Amino acid sequence: MYTKKVMDHFMNPRNMGEIEEASGVGTVGNAKCGDIMRMYLQVEDDIITDVKFKTFGCGAAIATSSIATELVKGKTIEEALKVTNKAVVEALDGLPPVKVHCSLLAEEALHAALWDYAQKNHIKIEGLEPPKKDINEEEEIKE
Ligand code: FES
Repeated sequence: MYTKKVMDHFMNPRNMGEIEEASGVGTVGNAKCGDIMRMYLQVEDDIITDVKFKTFGCGAAIATSSIATELVKGKTIEEALKVTNKAVVEALDGLPPVKVHCSLLAEEALHAALWDYAQKNHIKIEGLEPPKKDINEEEEIKE
């Protein structure tokens, strides 16, 4: 049911954890299942130099978070904006159709973290929409 890449990223997630004093933090929830993903970005001179995530959710959500961090690390903000949920699913060699909604969390968490970065630095990132719902303030991911 799951590709080798999904299983690999689920069993050995990359970049799991948090960044203290991150440049931007985004936390989003999946309305369908209640799962939560938080992404931390370190940005220097427009480059995402470090990225970490914490996901309180299903295996597909953990695998998509993990691969999304790999896809954006070292990229410019403009390049990172092209990391859509479709790109994440493709990088995992696919997800079962019932699990595609899980990959949306990665894109949304990334956008929410970029939005937070933009807000903190009073800048506008072209093409970036405000997150539908950033739950940074409302909920904590259970350790
Ligand atoms: Fe909730 Fe996958 S079932 S994110």
